[in-house]
Formats: sequence, structure tokens, C-alpha cells
Amino acid sequence: MCEYLKVPYISLFTNGTLPLITSLQALRITGEVITTPYSFVATTHSLWWNGIKPVFVDIDPKTGNLDPNRIEAAITPQTTAIMPVHVYGCPCRTKEIQDIADKYGLKVIYDAAHAFGVEVDGKSILNEGDVATLSFHATKVYNTIEGGALVMHDAKMKQRIDYLKNFGFANEVEVVAPGINSKMDEIRSAYGLINLKQVNQSIEARHQVAIQYREALKDVPGITVWNDIPGVRHNYSYFPIFVDEKAYGISRDELYFKMRDHQVWGRRYFYPLISTFSTYRGLESARPDNLPNAYRMASTVICLPMHHELTRDDIQRVLDVIIR
Ligand SMILES: Cc1ncc(COP(=O)(O)O)c(C=O)c1O
Repeated sequence: MCEYLKVPYISLFTNGTLPLITSLQALRITGEVITTPYSFVATTHSLWWNGIKPVFVDIDPKTGNLDPNRIEAAITPQTTAIMPVHVYGCPCRTKEIQDIADKYGLKVIYDAAHAFGVEVDGKSILNEGDVATLSFHATKVYNTIEGGALVMHDAKMKQRIDYLKNFGFANEVEVVAPGINSKMDEIRSAYGLINLKQVNQSIEARHQVAIQYREALKDVPGITVWNDIPGVRHNYSYFPIFVDEKAYGISRDELYFKMRDHQVWGRRYFYPLISTFSTYRGLESARPDNLPNAYRMASTVICLPMHHELTRDDIQRVLDVIIR
């Protein structure tokens, strides 16, 4: 796995949520953490499970990722870390985020659940920050049915994480930390080893799906698609489109339900925003006027069906509903 991902150390987990929770423990993060509302709930829940207050910062409308230009204004004396997400596997502006972290002495924990195999200029995006987490859930480009991992830079951190995910056991008789049981089991590891052999073909097949979607949708009024970023090895985990109601003629929700009527299962991913859920909506940073870009993206996005086994006919069925 280390070889494939071009990372020095990795620790395997039972899902992609527990490496988030465990890394916050290992890095002893407390107080407030700056994060994004445009993600899967597990990102913010991992903070809540550690008694940490999430502070939501708006996203960059070009990528869906935490906007580095807005981070500094959200830092308080209680801030101890930044938790950005590489949304849809699109790389965050890591240099700018690291510069801010270094300036204020903050840790950076990347939720890289979507970023398996993503590289920038030949280097793994997973090496950015203090640690990065992965999800190997069945919906991901690389999966172990349920599973996940934590990528770290040094052997000491790997040791600490390996203790923490196994009840804190250092050996048969010594428990060195209040750990949890979040280690990956052998059956899923075996499944993962087999999947590792075909993941490149899977990514390439998804790339071909993306090319066909993009080509067919690029000139449809009111539909925006994203292009590949030069220098980035994408993994084509997701294919988001953005619906401009005025130009397209019907709203995102109308299109979404129309797709469902035709048995085309897209996903409004991420909608609703995490900041709107009851656990978080009372936070000052969850106010809609603090998060205009995130609100806009959440109300216009649909992720189209994406899988390495989609046939030309499947793709055409999806496109026929969108292109009226
Ligand atoms: C951005 C993000 N973070 C965390 C997770 C949690 O991963 P898991 O479902 O493997 O626990 C997911 C999973 O869907 C995700 O999309």
C-alpha cells in the first residue's frame, strides 16, 4: 500500500471515520479546529467525538475545498488545528494552508477520504499536512467493503497510532494508552490486496467515463463540469455537475428527481451542508452569511453515477435525462 500510494507510513483501519477520530487523539488536538461545512458528516463528527469545537470556514467555489484566504480570520487563541478535505479528490491549496499552520503553530489533518492515489506533480497528496486519512468504503474508488487508513510521516507516529487502534496494547501485558478497537481485519485486508491489483484499471476506466460525460455536457447551457487540473493525477472518484437553474431551465432538485424517475441515481453530494445539521447549526460559524460559497455549491451540485463498469449505454442513459 505504501509503495502504491508513495507514502512512507500507513496504518490500516476498519473505516474512514476512525482514523480521523484517532489522529485527533494522537496529535492531542483540543479547543477549536477550523474545517469545512462542505464534506461528509464524519469530518466534523470526528471533532465532536473528541470534544473539539468545529469552526466552519467557507470554501473556494472553484474546487469545493476550504478557502485558505478565509482561514486566518477564523483563528482564535483556542485554535489548535486545521482539518481540510480534498473534496472529490481535488487537491486543496496545501502550500497556503501549511504556511498559515506554520505561522500560528497549528496542526493540519487532511481528510483525504476521496483522494486515494491522487498526485500533484508526481507526488502523493497524502504526504501533505501532519497526517491524512483515507476511506476504503464500498462507494470509494479503492475499497475494502468498509475500511480506511491513516498516512503519517514518521515511525513514532505510526507506532502511536498502531497502539491506539488496538486498545493501547504495546505487547501482551502492557497497555500504554486508552486506545480503541479500530484495526482492519484480515478478511478485508486480503480483499484490499486483491483490489490493489486492479485499481489502476479501475481509475483508467473511470477516466474514460469522465471524458464521455465531459464531452457531452460541456456545451449544455446551465450545466457546469470541471476539467482536469494540469499536473494532477486525478482518481475520478466522482463526477460533479453544477446546475444553474436560470440557464438550464429547471432547478437542481427538479433535475435530481427527474433522474430518479428514470432510475438514474445521482447524488446531491454534499447536501445539506454539515453546518445545517442540529448538532452544529447553533455555532456562530454555521451562519449562512459566513458560508455563501458552500451554500451555493450544496444547492447546485449533483454527482453523476460513476463506476468503472459503466457501459456506453449506461452513460448515454444518464446523459439522455440531462440533455433534453
Ligand atoms: C470526506 C469523507 N470523510 C470521511 C468519510 C468517512 O469514511 P467511512 O465511511 O469509511 O467511515 C467519508 C465517507 O464517506 C467521506 O466522504
